Amino acid sequence: MQTDILNENQIGEAAKAIKHGHLIAFPTETVYGLGADATNEQAVKAVYAAKGRPSDNPLIVHIADKSSVAQYVDIISKEAQILMDTFWPGPLTLIFELKNTDVLPGVVTGGLTTAAFRMPDNKLTLELITQSNTVLVGPSANTSGKPSPTTAHHVYHDLKGHIRGILDGGSCEVGVESTVLDVSNLDEAPVILRPGAITKHQIESIIGQVTFDGHLVTESEVPKAPGMKYKHYSPDTTVQMIDDANNNWDQAITYYLDLNKKVGLLANKEIIQAYGSSCECYQLSETRDVRESMKHLFAGLRELDQLEDKLDIILVETYPEDDGGMAYMNRLKKAANQDYFIKA
Ligand code: TXA
Ligand code: MG
Repeated sequence: MQTDILNENQIGEAAKAIKHGHLIAFPTETVYGLGADATNEQAVKAVYAAKGRPSDNPLIVHIADKSSVAQYVDIISKEAQILMDTFWPGPLTLIFELKNTDVLPGVVTGGLTTAAFRMPDNKLTLELITQSNTVLVGPSANTSGKPSPTTAHHVYHDLKGHIRGILDGGSCEVGVESTVLDVSNLDEAPVILRPGAITKHQIESIIGQVTFDGHLVTESEVPKAPGMKYKHYSPDTTVQMIDDANNNWDQAITYYLDLNKKVGLLANKEIIQAYGSSCECYQLSETRDVRESMKHLFAGLRELDQLEDKLDIILVETYPEDDGGMAYMNRLKKAANQDYFIKA
């Protein structure tokens, strides 16, 4: 199959493909999604196949209009409604109890009685959903286990030949996937299943206390949001984190260069200027800024992983795991398989 890169003048074409059950990757403010008609079981199955993703992993339903949720959900709590009004369109996914399990194919929900909904903040994609006259599933448009794609080129690299087209909307602003918040249990405080650009404090400032799912921290074997437990988002090259408290870049780089290893650095400009002369470097931020670093993290991992002259190790900058650093560290720790550089 030929995979076309489509521009904003070809949204009609892309929508037609979706209606015919084909797969079209779409841009969002977070990462690129692999779009298919969520009401078409065969099309959704093709999404799992293209990504090589386990089919018990539920998908997010992408909508173009807040009112669409009510088609699938009976009870939208006051808190959920306020969150939708505040953060949609934007990088927040909400999990609701469905009216019944017939309103969406079981392949979308992984057989659960709940489903995830999100209204992405991207004009092209909102238009694509509207013109498709349906709602779209949209897992990140990467090969399962690889860093999520933040450009059309990343999608093309992973999925060319397997999907009908890619709607090119340039680079994603946020760079990591949306915050996933479970609001399906009306008797308990909402639960964050995946940290993202919308932080716990931001949510709490609107609706009061929410909790983090412990699986995020303890790496349980049965995650509530699949993809939370094992090594994930990882490039082929080994990734190690440099502890922000020790800041031992010099020691780590010397250690690997002495072993004749090829070293990559993923860090802010100052670090690269100080230590980067014998390494391959990718700048995450201008002046150590976690939002900016988050935007470039996946792109940097991909770039350093795909050099002609393969690296042996990629060393990456860390941040404190406070409110603003949660999402960055959550993704980085998985890419690094939890591994920090510690001198033997
Ligand atoms: O930013 C994003 O959310 C991107 C863009 C493309 O929209 N999409 C994305 O989709 O990251 P995906 O499929 O890679 O991640 C969906 C997450 C998974 O962690 C999944 O387990 C969780 O949402 N999820 C979906 N439905 C769920 C449900 N009913 N209950 C619990 N977790 C659910
Ligand atoms: Mg993903």
